[in-house]
Amino acid sequence: MSLKEEVQKRRTFAIISHPDAGKTTLTEKCLLFGGAIQTAGAVKSNKIKKGAASDFMEIERQRGISVATSVMSFDYNNCKVNLLDTPGHKDFAEDTYRTLTAVDSVILVIDCVKGVEEQTERLMEVCRMRDTPVIIFINKMDREGRPPFDLLDELEQKLHISTRPLAWPIGMGSDFQGVYNLYEKSLYLFSANKTKISDDIVAIQDLNDPELDKTVGERAANQLREDVELVEGVYEPFNIEMYRAGLLAPVFFGSALNNFGVKELLDAFTRIAPPPHERESANRVVAPEENKFSGFIFKIHANLDPRHRDRIAFLRVCSGKFERNKFFHHVRLDKNFRFSNPYAFLAQDKEVIEEAFPGDVIGLYDTGNFKIGDTLTEGEDLIFKGIPSFSPEIFREVINTDPMKTKQLEKGVQQLTDEGVAQLFIQQPGNRKIIGTVGELQFDVIQYRLENEYGASCRFIPMNVYKACWLTSENLEVLDAFCRIKAKDIAFDKDNNRVYMAETEWQLNMTIRNNPEIQFHFISEFTTTEHMERK
Ligand code: G4P
Repeated sequence: MSLKEEVQKRRTFAIISHPDAGKTTLTEKCLLFGGAIQTAGAVKSNKIKKGAASDFMEIERQRGISVATSVMSFDYNNCKVNLLDTPGHKDFAEDTYRTLTAVDSVILVIDCVKGVEEQTERLMEVCRMRDTPVIIFINKMDREGRPPFDLLDELEQKLHISTRPLAWPIGMGSDFQGVYNLYEKSLYLFSANKTKISDDIVAIQDLNDPELDKTVGERAANQLREDVELVEGVYEPFNIEMYRAGLLAPVFFGSALNNFGVKELLDAFTRIAPPPHERESANRVVAPEENKFSGFIFKIHANLDPRHRDRIAFLRVCSGKFERNKFFHHVRLDKNFRFSNPYAFLAQDKEVIEEAFPGDVIGLYDTGNFKIGDTLTEGEDLIFKGIPSFSPEIFREVINTDPMKTKQLEKGVQQLTDEGVAQLFIQQPGNRKIIGTVGELQFDVIQYRLENEYGASCRFIPMNVYKACWLTSENLEVLDAFCRIKAKDIAFDKDNNRVYMAETEWQLNMTIRNNPEIQFHFISEFTTTEHMERK
């Protein structure tokens, strides 16, 4: 098969949702329909369970599961589908954001009872930053949810995206009878059944066909006719270019738990979701069909066995062909590496692979050479854009509580932040280490892992910081002067970029207003062009 054909076959995506909307259930059902697993219940929830016996055991359990389910690949409709897992807990949101840089599209799951929830909005903001195409699956239609038109309005308003239903539900909750597929013009009949995997389908080309009344009853049939007329009148016809540009989200309805609407979703997904496309690097745009290999690391996973310090770095192939045992260029380190045991993931299994193509995600054993955002190429100094680091929400200073283990602490903090567990900022004088995270749970993870994997111990002092902003300015003198004056509020991130630590929103707004020549950014990139210049 040619490289172009390999590229066209790939569909690399993630399922995202607010916790509890049904991401794990839908993931499992996709694997079931894709033939990657045989029985339901094989995919474990990677949610941190509330009230579990020990938080730390729970963290380890979660880490174990998230290695096993990092990537799940299966074949469906002549496509090679790569489903990338994202953590369920909101404290690990940053991990999810990074994974979203490695996918070509997403399926967003909405609970029809709850509608758009907080985490849904944040995830969509990240999708919009990269114009990631989104398909929406409105789940739990077997429950009494909100009226479908209200849900669609809410999606448009809160997620700032146009929607286009491609299927329409008939009833809801105890009256849910199925969906009418608007482009196939057929009726999918619902029966609450967690084990059945094929839907009963009735082809109804014309909604005035009396067969419809016979099948769903006169009242529901008339309601459907009315609804569909409204849908066709209000919504523009589905436009695949708009979807692929991230401007229009097709909407499906179903019940993942009852296997209903999942096959239909997957069929539409493989038909319309984009294969790998061009990717911007700091230097130029890279096309997947280019012969030379390139890829970037978007996630690093530490070994669960503390006696082995090696880690798994997850690489997304962007162009050309990755080959086992071939030397590739590590751009940041300016060194060549080869990999004798690259892994591909097949649902619960992993296997050593000989080659991988654009869209594929492979696991590389790493002894500490990789950071998130690193690029591998066949020699060119490419750096891929779009692996942002977001301004954390909680900041704490790390205090060493065992002076005999200073080195271990340094190393541990360095490696854990390389992995992306949290962000590290250094403040002078005194080399103060500040850890910034999006959730409380990371501090438990860091403390526990420092102790267990590095033999170091620490405590955290809360800091009064509202936001960390990365700074840029056309006028370097102005920026230098600002950093001198505000020295006590300036810290350095891992790449030695200056960040301004604002104590309050008010202070930040004042500072922004008083310094018009300086730009304050809430989002950085792990790898910057500045990096290239320093090399
Ligand atoms: P998440 O990964 O997005 O957090 O959600 P998950 O799939 O774990 O689903 C959350 C809960 O919603 C689960 O119930 C799951 O069974 C249920 N669920 C998923 N899809 C549907 C659906 O189509 N209809 C209905 N009625 N429920 C659905 P749970 O009680 O929290 O867990 P479990 O004990 O059933 O595993």
